[in-house]
Amino acid sequence: MSEESPQVRPIEAAERVGIGVIGCGTVGGALIAALLSRSTQIADRTGTQLDVRRVAVRDLHKARDVDVPRELLTDDAEELVADENVEVVVEVMGTIEPARSLIEAALKARKPVVTANKELMALAGASLAKIAKENDVDLLYEASVGGGIPLVRPLRESLAGERISRVVGILNGTTNYILTRMTEEGVEYKTALDEAQELGYAEADPTADVEGLDAAAKAAIIANLAFGASVVAQDVHPEGITSITAEDIDLAGRLGYTVKLVAIISRHDNGSAGVRVHPVMLPADHPLASVRLSFNAVFVEGEDVGELMFYGRGAGGAPTASAVLGDLIDAAHNLRHGGSGRLARPGNATLWPLEEQSSAFYLTLDVEDAAGVLAAVAQAFGEYEVSIRSMEQTGVRGEAHLVFVTHE
Ligand code: NAP
Ligand code: HSE
Repeated sequence: MSEESPQVRPIEAAERVGIGVIGCGTVGGALIAALLSRSTQIADRTGTQLDVRRVAVRDLHKARDVDVPRELLTDDAEELVADENVEVVVEVMGTIEPARSLIEAALKARKPVVTANKELMALAGASLAKIAKENDVDLLYEASVGGGIPLVRPLRESLAGERISRVVGILNGTTNYILTRMTEEGVEYKTALDEAQELGYAEADPTADVEGLDAAAKAAIIANLAFGASVVAQDVHPEGITSITAEDIDLAGRLGYTVKLVAIISRHDNGSAGVRVHPVMLPADHPLASVRLSFNAVFVEGEDVGELMFYGRGAGGAPTASAVLGDLIDAAHNLRHGGSGRLARPGNATLWPLEEQSSAFYLTLDVEDAAGVLAAVAQAFGEYEVSIRSMEQTGVRGEAHLVFVTHE
């Protein structure tokens, strides 16, 4: 070899990092399957070998889709966190307790944590981030919003210098799946919900999905990331899809609209943040109207960057595990090489009260089909300065069904 030849360096052995995973359900199962089958490829690509050392579950005897070696399994998650062979903890068990205590214990033991738990992050994200900071370790939660869509990292890092004015998105895969099936195939609500549960999109208790609480938690997390607002899920106005009827969907279609459950996170001129979740009728040619099934999509509007759109699978084991895996690789790399992904947007934006925000509305009224009734309704709208954009009346046997669409 001449002196000019490039130096050939031996490929360094990948650095091994011990992983403990709490939860082996829809997301945990998909993550562990990926880690067990692709750890060599991941090591080749990233230089970090992720070794699954412990997996905590509730029921040791449950049949699982993924073949977890028996000796890795435990039903004692505290023991997993304390295990000295576990260097990074992944929490994919869900709910508040004991998830919160387990994450706190891991962070205090200076173990980085990766979580998909939006319910917890929307409630206690700020206090957990504080503990992570005090202990100089990562707390990463990409999978908590938008399933497999990279959204938390872009908002926190790529857009750190951007003044964001509005984020509008479809943030819940279950409800988007249900609405798509009802709209396109006329499937009954209950059947569509059963399908969403079967496909692994819904939360263990799907009430959180269909009542808008899951989307509200994600909206709170986005408000914190985008505006530095100290918003918790309970601050968000949630309205779900349980009262939407096949008739509403049909009528919206006839008027040229598609019904979607949407989260709107917006900045008022005075700096306060409005955060709300409710069904909307979107014009059929609106980009969010074509987001189907379990897909999520999020529009971000920034002063300099203009409009951005993020789109992808918002729920389901494999897409969500993909986001967890990305965080895991990052946390493991930071653990070995120093540094962390703890950029946070400073700020203490207050809440923009819902009563002060405005919107066009869709209303239905069942009234007596008699002279003067419509005039009385119109008078009430007039008294409260509500301007009607369109009105439709249908009726049977003395009853009238009135549908109004108002201006903003
Ligand atoms: P899941 O299918 O219900 O799985 C939960 C897992 O946690 C199960 O394996 C369960 O054990 C285990 N577990 C529960 N309590 C435990 C305890 N005390 N100790 C040890 N293990 C315990 O839930 P998932 O759908 O995977 O969701 C997990 C998390 O990811 C939640 O925070 C959820 O909101 C979030 N997430 C889910 C999705 C999705 O599409 N599913 C998407 C984004 C984020 P057993 O199996 O023995 O019962
Ligand atoms: N249940 C949630 C949804 C999972 O349907 O969007 C993803 O967070």
